[in-house]
Amino acid sequence: MDTIKILLIEPNESIGEVITKSLQRAFNAEVVFLKTSAEGVKRLKDRESFSLILVRNKNDETPEIKEDPIAEHILNIIYDQALKIPLIVIGDFEHTYKKYTLVSEQFRIEEINRLVLKSLGLKKEDFEHLKLPDYVPFSIKHFYLMTSSPCAIYIKLVKKTGDEFVKRLKNNENFNKIDLKTYEELGLQDFYILREEYEDFMNGLFLQTIDNLKLPRNLEENMEVVGDSFVLGTNLMRSLGINANCICMVDQTLLMMKNQIQKTDKLGALLRKLLDDKMSYSYRRSYLIAALSNTLFPKMGWGSGDQQSILLEKICMVAYFHDIYLEDEKLLKISSLAEQKFALLSPKENDLVNNHANRAAVLIQSYPKLPQGIDMIIKQHHGVSNGVGFPEVLTAGISPLAIFFIVLEDFATNILAISGPPENLVNSMREALKPLKEKYQLPSYRKIVTEIEMMIAPKK
Ligand SMILES: [Fe+2]
Ligand SMILES: [Fe+2]
Repeated sequence: MDTIKILLIEPNESIGEVITKSLQRAFNAEVVFLKTSAEGVKRLKDRESFSLILVRNKNDETPEIKEDPIAEHILNIIYDQALKIPLIVIGDFEHTYKKYTLVSEQFRIEEINRLVLKSLGLKKEDFEHLKLPDYVPFSIKHFYLMTSSPCAIYIKLVKKTGDEFVKRLKNNENFNKIDLKTYEELGLQDFYILREEYEDFMNGLFLQTIDNLKLPRNLEENMEVVGDSFVLGTNLMRSLGINANCICMVDQTLLMMKNQIQKTDKLGALLRKLLDDKMSYSYRRSYLIAALSNTLFPKMGWGSGDQQSILLEKICMVAYFHDIYLEDEKLLKISSLAEQKFALLSPKENDLVNNHANRAAVLIQSYPKLPQGIDMIIKQHHGVSNGVGFPEVLTAGISPLAIFFIVLEDFATNILAISGPPENLVNSMREALKPLKEKYQLPSYRKIVTEIEMMIAPKK
């Protein structure tokens, strides 16, 4: 984002300073603070460019200075020069040229900040990063797909005299995942980046990660890098929301997931890698759901090859986003009221679990070119139409894809619960299916259980 440059004309020195500081802090803005309109008028006449102008309505005459109708002078020049700069006026003011916003004399500083955002058409979230601490922590896991540092990287030493930050990687210094693992084995979890370099770092992070994802690899290696970017993307979106950079990365991750699943005709090859618990649980289960879906689609009567490919794309997306707000494996494994009660969660955890589906559905609504119905499937992925909590009894009154997802997730959870690499995949899958046969009595759910059963042991 370009720097915001604000022309501020405020006769009172101390009020002007308070406003200047607040604008600098909230928006990292460059503020030109003047006390009279004359110089402001001159600068505008000279075509100096500003993003926004904020002025006091007027300065009344005193023995020392003569009257200064600030807002009027500025608005006249805006009109004369046909300038497109938004104007905010503090205090009562009237003018026939109505291109300005008023803020009351007894304004609160937040009010000005809010109007600045509104006038510039910006969002509060665009400036969240300015509230960061001097050294911003960043999980070492998020560096897995990077190969060189886009800025200096620090580690934190906790000392009695206070935290100390020591530079560990220089700008442009190379490293690889093995180096990073070594740091983690030493007990280090986070690297730190200077706040001023945060944006450079984020740009480097996304660029390098996307490039790295595209390198040629074998299936197993590919599943691993996609897992790293799954963890990175979900963590970032959980804390920062959806922004243009992460959309590129998430699109690439989903595309690779889909291609790998479509290209691999043996489910067993994917499954063996997914049982590797060094990769994130959330990723492994999401991947497994998508892979199983792809095997089952031809049986579901949901259309031809092309339509199945679109369905796979949807399922990959649902699988990626549906539990984005749950980090803890314990919470990820809860899928019914009974399990939720049994887990004896804290009020905060209960709240998180109860609302995760609905929150994820809201988050994904701001994702561009969203395939139809994704937010609804995410909202209903535990069987309740409003996405809050778990149903007392299962209902057929939700989207067929949501029902499909519920049964498959249950199955995938059971498969992953089998400890150690199973010698006989078919037997393990049968074991994983057993509890589902009891649980799902409604025909729309049952059909999917039956199809899974046929998939495990096809009729001769
Ligand atoms: Fe889930
Ligand atoms: Fe969930």
